[in-house]
Amino acid sequence: MGARFACAVNSCTAALHLALEALGVGPGDKVFVPTWTFTASAEVVRYMGADPILLDVEEETSLLTPEIVEAAIQRHPEVKVIIVVHFAGHPAEMERPGGGGIVEVCRRHGVRIVEDAAHSFPTRHAGRMIGAFGDITCFSFYANKTITTGEGGMVTTEDEALYRRCKIMRLHGIDRDVWARFTSDKPAWEYDVVAPGFKYNMPDINAAIGLAQLERAEHLRAERQRCAEHYFRELGEVACLRLPRGRVPMGDHSWHLFPVVLRESAPLARNRVIELLAARGIGTSVHYKPIHRMTYYRDRYALKPEGYPNAERIWHGCFSLPIHSWLTTEELHYITENAEGSTGRSETRNGPFWLMQNLSLFPQQQAAGSFSLRRISERTSGTS
Ligand SMILES: Cc1ncc(COP(=O)(O)O)c(C=O)c1O
Repeated sequence: MGARFACAVNSCTAALHLALEALGVGPGDKVFVPTWTFTASAEVVRYMGADPILLDVEEETSLLTPEIVEAAIQRHPEVKVIIVVHFAGHPAEMERPGGGGIVEVCRRHGVRIVEDAAHSFPTRHAGRMIGAFGDITCFSFYANKTITTGEGGMVTTEDEALYRRCKIMRLHGIDRDVWARFTSDKPAWEYDVVAPGFKYNMPDINAAIGLAQLERAEHLRAERQRCAEHYFRELGEVACLRLPRGRVPMGDHSWHLFPVVLRESAPLARNRVIELLAARGIGTSVHYKPIHRMTYYRDRYALKPEGYPNAERIWHGCFSLPIHSWLTTEELHYITENAEGSTGRSETRNGPFWLMQNLSLFPQQQAAGSFSLRRISERTSGTS
């Protein structure tokens, strides 16, 4: 990860909690969090008795940008910590050629940066691994991540004091970890408790899995890239579908997710497309229902959708296509073209995405509100 210090923990949520604790976030503080994230990024702020200030994201990438961060700091100069999420494995612009990246903006205003890189190992930005741009970076090795330990996470930092605090708080606030207790001359039983810490250490068995996975990290990432390349190639012409826009070369992205957005011109609503795909055994998910729409945050902070126009536009159309290292070429073709069960690009494009594209040719079917996919696929076969 390109950082001097790393501390293995049992989840990214634990890593984020430790990061905020080490930075001294406390009751009454406020922390910037993008609304476009998993709930863990916001809940850890509440763990500390602090309040998240949710920020809208850039529509094209679902990321915070230097401009969004600068404007937020101008509106809330009292905020001293931000959580930057590298959504889907695509890095936020921490550095910008010629200057003015998120790190520079935050340094100028004395705002400390926690990077939520749950999706972003291995991810590169500006020629370096994500892991040491901000003050502390937090990774996840949960089951669906590029490398996994079942459950697991990691804190990385360049700052020795932050590292030491995370290490102590990871294990009950004890001043010596188990390794130090059983490998030094001082009696193993003798330790002190310097703070009411947590039980966040990564179990040894998970760590052993992680070491083996680490050797395969680039292979696993590249296999995901293979899936992403297929989707770009095969779905690029589906006009009502917006594919992810990358600011980095394909090989710098971890491709944890492949999030697409149905444009307003799409003939079907997002939930209907998800149902049609599910009926064909194609599992999708939605990343994310934004935090400002979640009951707890919406009610506690009286949040209104109008405050997050970009996130709202993404939310109405977004869903994520299957992406993982074991997807075969046949399965990828099944997803993108031949929902009726056959494979191969040379055959007719009759999968749900192409049907959706072709639906505009049959407006009476939309007006009726229901239609037989099989019938339409027969009628449209060979038309595109
Ligand atoms: C953006 C983000 N942050 C944090 C987490 C929490 O990760 P973990 O499950 O390892 O606690 C997740 C989980 O997927 C996530 O998507």
